[in-house]
Formats: sequence, structure tokens, C-alpha cells
Amino acid sequence: MARILVTRPVAEPALEMLRNAFGADAIDLYEEDAIIPREELLRRVAGKDGVFALLSEKVDAEFLEAAGPGLRIVANMAVGYDNITVPECSQRGVAVTNTPDVLTETTADLAWGLIIGASRRFAEAERFLRNGEWKEWSPTLLCGVDVYGKTLGILGMGRIGQAVARRATGFGMRVIYHNRSRLPEDTERALNAERVDLPTLLAESDILSVHCPLGDATHGILGAEAFKAMKPTAVLVNTSRGPVVDETALAEALLAKEIFAAGLDVFEREPSVHARLLECDNVVLLPHLGSATYATRQRMAETAAANLVAFFSGKRPPNCVNPEVLQGG
Ligand code: GLV
Repeated sequence: MARILVTRPVAEPALEMLRNAFGADAIDLYEEDAIIPREELLRRVAGKDGVFALLSEKVDAEFLEAAGPGLRIVANMAVGYDNITVPECSQRGVAVTNTPDVLTETTADLAWGLIIGASRRFAEAERFLRNGEWKEWSPTLLCGVDVYGKTLGILGMGRIGQAVARRATGFGMRVIYHNRSRLPEDTERALNAERVDLPTLLAESDILSVHCPLGDATHGILGAEAFKAMKPTAVLVNTSRGPVVDETALAEALLAKEIFAAGLDVFEREPSVHARLLECDNVVLLPHLGSATYATRQRMAETAAANLVAFFSGKRPPNCVNPEVLQGG
């Protein structure tokens, strides 16, 4: 029977799926609700056939070496998998799975929270109120920028980008996007979205929401030049991965009011946040909560578990990101 390492207690129904499929004795669960220390991880992965992993685990050559040749699959409980060196896994025949779809709408909701929160200065306004600074209604108090009727730019028009675009209909927005490939025409029509090049996206977006995966092509794609090209009234929202945005350049752009505001759920070196960003009033900062609802986190855990169960029952795991390692490719 396959032996599975689970690196942190996750939703009980997912653990139950694993116990039912593999037997309670085959599940090695790191019981503490904390990131498993690296040494402990490397020690416990040795001899395992499968791993239920979180974004906090770096799955690299050292990890795979520690696991040994028996490791066959790493099921990541996240849609993004930049914590995993996929080519290294593929080379060793280790399948990698992720959890797409189940978190799309939840993450799109959060992006919209940041769009409105940053445009209307929610975080700054709440700090003002809690600090006892609110003395009177004033026509100029904490004015922000409108969202309704504006142009929404989307960088990365995958599942989440499209879910964000769908919500824009209710806000009467024009939607433009930049993506490696163009969406099918009927999808573009349904979303009322137009594909543009990056300079046009930067120049014309009132709100720019980032939804591309992190990779060589997107690392630091939004830096000093990009912020100079944006409108001074523009709002940037990032719910994808921190390193897509150059944080130092963003902090300088926010402090110099080159753009109006930003809403960030992800950071270059989580959980640390750039000191200059913490100095900015015009940024809403969240601790990577894109998919953080009870229901979605449970669905993500169940999806990761389902990938492990399918794989060891000889079926294709539904969410394999390196299918070339599976029999039949
Ligand atoms: C969260 O960031 C995810 O990739 O699921």
C-alpha cells in the first residue's frame, strides 16, 4: 500500500478520503498546525510514495533526493505550483498535481474586494476611524476613484482572470486583457473583452488586475517602467504571485503618486512585506487570502486528496501539470 506524507492538518473530509483509500497506518500526518520544519520534512518524506504538499513546501532536488526513488506523486494544495521544481520532478518521473477550478470564484471575489478597497481607500479610512481621527463629515474626506464605468485591465486571462472579467459586467466596465494567447472569439464576446498588447494595457487601464502565473516570462513584468506608463489615477491589484511585481518599484511609484493605489494579496518574499510598502497609505495589504474561505479550502484539500487517490488506483489524476510522466503521456 502506498505511504503518503501529509505536511499539515487539512480539512477532515480530505484526510478521511486518504485514510479510506490507503488505510490510516499509511498516512503520515504532520500534526502541528504550522509549517513543517525543513529538516523534519526531509526526514519524513524518505521512503514515501506520495506527498500532500502545501505552498509552504519547497519541492526541489534536495526534497526529491530525500524522498528517494519510490516517490511517485506530489499533490499540491494550490492552483499555483511555483513552490515545485516541475522539470526536476518530471525528470524523476514524479507526477505533480494542483487544485484548479475549485478556487476560481473565491479568488476572483477577493480580487474584487481589493479593486474596490484600494480604489475607495478602505484600509486607510479604517485606520483613520480607529485612530479616532474622524471628527466630521467633509466633502473632501478620503475621496477615492470610481470603479463603475471604468476600464478594467487584466494581465493573465486564465480561469481567474476570466472570473474577474465576468464580474465587471455589473460594474459597466470596458474590459481589456493581455495574455500569451487570444481567447476564443465567443469567450471574448461573452466577457466583452478585447485583447491588447502590454503597453496598451498599461496606458488604458483604470484598474489593472494581475492573474498570470509566475514564470520566467512574468517575473518582474510590472516594474518602474510599467508604473510610469500607467495613469496617475490607476489602481493595481495583485492576487497572483508577488514576484510578478517589482515591489521596490511599486512602493516608489505609490509614494510618488505615479499611480493612485494598489491592493496586494501576494508578496515577493512572503510572509515578509517590503518596508517601503508598509510606509504607503495608498495600498491595501492582505496576507495571501485569495482562496481563503472555509468551503474553498475544503474543496482544495479534497481535490489534492482526490488526485492522490486516483493516481494510486491506476487512474489519471485529474489535475496533473506534467502529464508526460503518466503512462500514455
Ligand atoms: C494560492 O495562491 C494558490 O495558488 O492556490
